[in-house]
Amino acid sequence: MQTAPIKPIKPWFQTIEDVGDRLEWSTFFPIDQPVELDIGCGRGLFLFNAAVTRPDTNFLGLEIDYREGRRTATRLMKRDLANARVIGGDGKIVLSTMIEPHSVQAAHVYFPDPWWKKRHHKRRIFTESFVDLLARILQPGGFLHSWTDVAEYFDVIRELVDPHPQFTIAEPPAERPPEHDLDYQTSFERKKRKLGSPIYRGLWQRRPLDAVCKLETVSESV
Ligand SMILES: C[S@@+](CC[C@H](N)C(=O)[O-])C[C@H]1O[C@@H](n2cnc3c(N)ncnc32)[C@H](O)[C@@H]1O
Repeated sequence: MQTAPIKPIKPWFQTIEDVGDRLEWSTFFPIDQPVELDIGCGRGLFLFNAAVTRPDTNFLGLEIDYREGRRTATRLMKRDLANARVIGGDGKIVLSTMIEPHSVQAAHVYFPDPWWKKRHHKRRIFTESFVDLLARILQPGGFLHSWTDVAEYFDVIRELVDPHPQFTIAEPPAERPPEHDLDYQTSFERKKRKLGSPIYRGLWQRRPLDAVCKLETVSESV
C-alpha cells in the first residue's frame, strides 16, 4: 500500500539553530513585504488569522515551546500559507541578535506568561531590556501591541513602555463581540473572555528615529 509522502514542516517551523545568525527578511519569506512578529505565539490563532486576512504582510511567530510552535506551524503548513512562519526558541535572542534594526512593522505580545509568584516575576518577558529590544527592531511609526488579562502585569508593562523615550501611547482597539468561535485575537483571549475576565489592551507607536535623536539632544543640553 502506498502512503502519501509526509510534507516536511520546514520552512513553517525552524529552530534558531536552523535559521543561523541572521534573519534576512528578503530571503526568509518567499515574498519581500512588511514583517510583523508574534512573540510567544502559543497555539497561533493570531498568526493564522492575521496571515489569512492580510496576505500583503509576513508574520513570524516566536515560540520558546517547540511543541506549541510545531503545532502552530502545522496549521500554517496545512493551509500552505507562504506569509507565516514560526521560529522555535527564545524570542529575546531572536530580537537581540538576529533581526536587522528597525526592520519590523509591528510586534505583538499577547498574554505573556504572568509568572504569578513574586519571586518568579524576574522570569517575565517584559523588562526594561525587552522594551529596548522592541524599540530596536521596530521601524519608525511601527506598533507594539500587548494585551493581557492580568491587571498588575499590565500596570508593569505600561510603567515600562509609557515613559520610554522611543514610544508614544496610541489608542488600543475597543472590545467587540466575536462573530464566531475563532473570532478572537488569540487562544488566550478566547479562554479569558469566555471566563468573563476583563482584557487590558495596550498599543504604542515607535517614534521616528530623528525625533528620538532630537529628544536625546534636548535632554542632554538641559
Ligand atoms: C500565556 S501563553 C500566550 C500564548 C498566545 N500569545 C495567546 O495569547 O494565546 C505565553 C506564550 O509565550 C511563550 N513564551 C514565553 N517566553 C517566551 C520567550 N522568551 N520567547 C518565545 N516565547 C515565549 C510561552 O511558551 C507561551 O506559549
